[in-house]
Amino acid sequence: MDMCHLLEVKNLTKFFSKRLSHFAYAKKDSFAAVRDVSFSLDAGEALGLVGESGSGKTTVANMLLKLIEPDGGQILFGGEDITRLRGYKDLYPVRRNIQAVFQNSGTSLDPHMTLGEIITEPLKNYHLPTEGKAEESLALVGLPPEWARRRPHQLSGGQRQRVSIARAMVLKPSLLVLDEATSNLDVITASQIIALMRKLHEENNTAILFISHDISVVDRLCTRKVVMKDGMIVETLRSLDLSEARHPYTRRLIESKMSVSL
Ligand SMILES: Nc1ncnc2c1ncn2[C@@H]1O[C@H](COP(=O)(O)OP(=O)(O)OP(=O)(O)O)[C@@H](O)[C@H]1O
Ligand SMILES: [Mg+2]
Repeated sequence: MDMCHLLEVKNLTKFFSKRLSHFAYAKKDSFAAVRDVSFSLDAGEALGLVGESGSGKTTVANMLLKLIEPDGGQILFGGEDITRLRGYKDLYPVRRNIQAVFQNSGTSLDPHMTLGEIITEPLKNYHLPTEGKAEESLALVGLPPEWARRRPHQLSGGQRQRVSIARAMVLKPSLLVLDEATSNLDVITASQIIALMRKLHEENNTAILFISHDISVVDRLCTRKVVMKDGMIVETLRSLDLSEARHPYTRRLIESKMSVSL
C-alpha cells in the first residue's frame, strides 16, 4: 500500500473582502487570510497550529472541515483529494472521519436534547447502533454515565465542553480538529481537558489538529507546532526552546508565555 499522510494540505489560500459589503468585492479590496499554507499530519499524530489572533488559524480549520471553500491549494485526506467535494452526499463519508470541537461547542449544545441524544446523534446519522453508547462516551470523558438523561443547562462550562468532546469522539474519527477548545475555560479545567484529550488521543490513535493562540498550551499535547503569522506559516517547532526558534515572531510568542507560566 502507498504510504501517505492522513492529512496533507498544499498551498492552501483563502481571500476575504476587507469591506463589509458583498457589492464592494474586488481583487484590490481583498486580502489573503491564509496564503500558501502547506503541512501534513500523520495518522495518530497530534499537530499544533499556533499564532496570534487573526493569523488565519480558524480559516485553515474551516477549509479542512469543508465549512468554507479554499481559493487555492489542495486538501488531501487519506490520500483522497477532498478540495472540491461539496454537498451533504459527497461529504458524508469524509465527515465521519473528521470531527471538530470549537471554543463555543459546549455553549451551543441543543438545550432541548438530553446529553444522551446529543452524544448519539452522529451515530444515528450514520445508521450505527446507539445502545449504551451515550453512557460509554460519558464515562470516557470522565462524566457520570447516568447523566445521559440530563440536559446541557444542568452542566458547568467545562462539563459541557467534555460532552462536546464525547460527541466528537463517538464515531471514532481518524482526525479531531480542536479550535481553541480550551480557551474559554479556567486554567484547572483547561488542564483536565487537555489531559483527557491526550488520553483519548493515545488510547484511540486519533490524530489531532490542536489550534490555539497559546503556544504553551499547544506544547502540552503536540510535539510538532506549526506557527502562523499574517496567514502564512513562519516555521515549525519541535520544542519551546528559544535556541530552536529562528523567527523573531516565534521567539516573542514563546517569551510572552514564559513570563506568565505557572
Ligand atoms: N468570513 C470572513 N469575512 C471576512 N474576513 C474574515 C472572515 N473570517 C475571517 N476573516 C478575517 O481573516 C483573518 C483570519 O481570521 P481567523 O479567524 O482565521 O484568525 P484566527 O487565527 O483564528 O484568530 P483567533 O485566534 O482570534 O481565533 C482575520 O483578519 C479575520 O478578520
Ligand atoms: Mg480562531
